[in-house]
Parts: sequence; structure tokens; C-alpha cells
Amino acid sequence: MAENMIEVRQINKVYVTGDISTQVLFDINLEVEKGTFNSIIGASGSGKTTLLNILGTLDKSTSGEVLIDGNRTDRMNKNQLAKLRNETIGFIFQFHYLLPEFTAMENVLLPVIIRKGRADEKDKARAGELMELVGISNVKDNLSTNMSGGQQQRTAVARALINQPKIILADEPTGNLDSESTANVYARFRFINETLGTTFVIVTHDRRIAEQTDRIIGVKDGRIDMDVRK
Ligand SMILES: Nc1ncnc2c1ncn2[C@@H]1O[C@H](COP(=O)(O)OP(=O)(O)OP(=O)(O)O)[C@@H](O)[C@H]1O
Ligand SMILES: [Mg+2]
Repeated sequence: MAENMIEVRQINKVYVTGDISTQVLFDINLEVEKGTFNSIIGASGSGKTTLLNILGTLDKSTSGEVLIDGNRTDRMNKNQLAKLRNETIGFIFQFHYLLPEFTAMENVLLPVIIRKGRADEKDKARAGELMELVGISNVKDNLSTNMSGGQQQRTAVARALINQPKIILADEPTGNLDSESTANVYARFRFINETLGTTFVIVTHDRRIAEQTDRIIGVKDGRIDMDVRK
């Protein structure tokens, strides 16, 4: 049996704002096997981002268990979680969250600097290669505020890949890109998946992208309503 990279059991999520509480995830059980390439689809507001953030330990579920590579993350403290995320997970957010006062290159190198305090020449060369791959070499010294939405998104893709994480969690990673750039980014994801065995979970509203993944997980009103494997 394939080992699980991510496993969640009986996840519920309730957001509380003032005296209003809204449950957005209901009894989610999900196992993501090592080295697989998965997508999550579902209508706007169905709970995809909430689920992805819980899978990546950026957000805590109200109840239930989350295991990353066999470790119970709900029992870890803040520092342990930050280390796990930095070393194990690459995030590509729906709204890419680059640091505005840094250049594209510096944004890409940030996870390295967090991991070991500084980036050496080898890291810079690797950042350069990744930026070349996603097609933003020409803007590598631009401040992130001086880049187009698509260039910022590609910077976020390179940043997620720099530490060679075991897991990539991506939330609409190509939402701002044209179809050619989208195809390039997905080809790159597939290549990394196949050569390094990186596990991918990608939220997308694009059915054509989902159909190219190994497994499509459908979310509807906070529940998994579909789970199709190729
Ligand atoms: N911080 C929050 N506080 C209260 N409710 C929230 C919060 N974040 C999300 N929600 C609600 O939870 C539900 C799920 O939101 P979520 O962002 O997970 O949806 P989504 O499937 O990612 O949607 P989209 O496709 O538009 O990105 C929505 O009804 C949303 O309004
Ligand atoms: Mg979302």
C-alpha cells in the first residue's frame, strides 16, 4: 500500500465572527499518497482554500487530526509547525503574497533565507534557473510591486519550488496566466512530480487542468462529494 504524505481525519472547521459561527467544513477524511498529483475542484465558497490551508497547517481545524508525513501536526507547537512548513511544504497562494519591498529574486530566495539564514551563490543560481523556467528572468531585479499579476504569480511559483519541498500546495496557481503560461507551469509541476516525487495538491476551477491530474477531489458545501482517480 502506498504511504500517505498527508492524512486528515474527521476535519470540521467553524469560523466564529462575533456571535455568528459558520461551519464551512464537515467531517472531511482525506488521504493523499506520496508522489501523487492531485487537484481539488468546487464552486466558489465551497471550502477549497480553507481545506488547503488546513492540509498545510496554515490554519487549524476546529476538530479532527492532520498528519503530514506521518506526524500529528495538531500536537506541534508554533515553532515546530513553522519549521515543518518551511522544510516540507511549498505554498502557492490564491493571492500570491510577495513582499513588496523586495525584488522578485529576493522573494524567490526567502524560504532559503528562512531555512539557513542566508542564500549562497548556489542558491542564487538555483533561483535564477527556476525564474528562467517560469519565464521571469527579465524582471528578476524588479520590485514585486513593479511586475504584472502574472509575473508576480510566476515569482510565487518559483518561491514555492526553491527549497525542493516534499509537498506543493497550490491555490489557483495559474489564475492570472494566459493559456500558454498556464500550460508551461503545469508541465513544470508534472516534471517536478515525476523526477523528484513531489506530492502536489492543486486547487483549480479549471476543469481541463483538473482532468490532467491523477485524482480529482470535488468539494461541495464543505464536504467531499467526488473523488475520482485515473
Ligand atoms: N476568515 C473567515 N471567516 C469567516 N468565514 C470565512 C473565512 N474564510 C472563509 N470563510 C467562509 O468559508 C467559506 C469557504 O471559503 P473558502 O475561501 O474556503 O472557499 P473557496 O472554495 O476557496 O472559494 P473560492 O473559489 O472563491 O476561492 C465561504 O463561505 C467563506 O465566506
Ligand atoms: Mg479559494
